[in-house]
Amino acid sequence: MQFDLAVLPGDGIGPEVANEGIKVLQAIGERFDHSFNLHYGLVGGVAIDQLGTALPPDTLEMCRRCDAVLLAAVGGPRWDDPQAKVRPEDGLLTLRKGLGLFANLRPVKVFPTLIDSTNLKPDVIQGVDFIFVRELTGGLYFARPKRQWQTSRGRRATDSMTYSEQEIERIVRVGFELARGRRKKLTSVDKANVLESSRLWRQVAMEVAEYYPDVELEHMLVDACAMRLIQNPTYFDVIVTENMFGDILTDEASMLAGSMGMLPSASLAGVPQEGGNIFGMYEPIHGSAPRRAGLDMANPIATILSIAMMLRYSFGLIKEAQTIDSAVDEVLSQGYRTYDIMGEGKTRVGTKQMGDLIAAKVGG
Ligand code: IPM
Ligand code: MG
Repeated sequence: MQFDLAVLPGDGIGPEVANEGIKVLQAIGERFDHSFNLHYGLVGGVAIDQLGTALPPDTLEMCRRCDAVLLAAVGGPRWDDPQAKVRPEDGLLTLRKGLGLFANLRPVKVFPTLIDSTNLKPDVIQGVDFIFVRELTGGLYFARPKRQWQTSRGRRATDSMTYSEQEIERIVRVGFELARGRRKKLTSVDKANVLESSRLWRQVAMEVAEYYPDVELEHMLVDACAMRLIQNPTYFDVIVTENMFGDILTDEASMLAGSMGMLPSASLAGVPQEGGNIFGMYEPIHGSAPRRAGLDMANPIATILSIAMMLRYSFGLIKEAQTIDSAVDEVLSQGYRTYDIMGEGKTRVGTKQMGDLIAAKVGG
């Protein structure tokens, strides 16, 4: 089969990890006889430097014409001035909004081989396997008003946490659908003891639950969830939450898997289906790690696993996706580690070598 893929390497370690993701994708293409037409585009700091905007209109148009998008990372200290008119992150946010990618899936799985390379006790994280469904185009990130202004008594600024019932309903549905294909337990995370938007969230979640009598719905306050993630992470199956809560909790959850460098994500414009053909953007959850850039150090596994998610949800290629997942497992089992997941007696490798090893396994 033939697919068109937009590749947006972005900033910092972005280009390095994107290369390894593409290497593994090409290995899949050769082994299973698919061709992936790659269309490279600018986003983030590189786009600001070259064109003065974080998301050139050409990039957005190109993404729209493709079957899926691979985005590596954006941002860096060079563009961090709080006074700056344009920010690399704006590019990412405009892409998410412009492509209608409201559902962000972030699976958190502990690789048995990495159980000793995390900061948590092995018996706490053994068997962790859950998935976050983060709302991605609403809430504090996007709702208006959002501004800073001058008053006679000094400066003020505001961001708004606003949700419509339609926005809540469609994301909660994604949570229920995923739970249905798993252990049938959905945890909806909110702050309903304080926030009005969370009270609406909770009401809508209960209404949607009527359509999913086979799934157990539970509500959890976000602070309690932050605690439970560390105290008893195997408790969770599917977690659905609003944009900002999801941003924070998924960084926390990445520590269960040992490193941010291990966590992939998919941002979708509809309800995901394994083996389906839904449009999506795939990214590692980590940032651009500017201090590691250009050093051939970064862990490419999050990007490589994001490619596997792309095969699964956007290209309908389940067998191929499983091939990548198993290749990652095998390479880790053989003791190869990038710096972030390095452990005693393991073999340390750089970005490229990790990509080569996984691509070679994928090649069969
Ligand atoms: C993420 C990142 C982004 C976010 C940043 C880079 C804007 O932290 O994908 O989690 O906050 O959504
Ligand atoms: Mg984040």
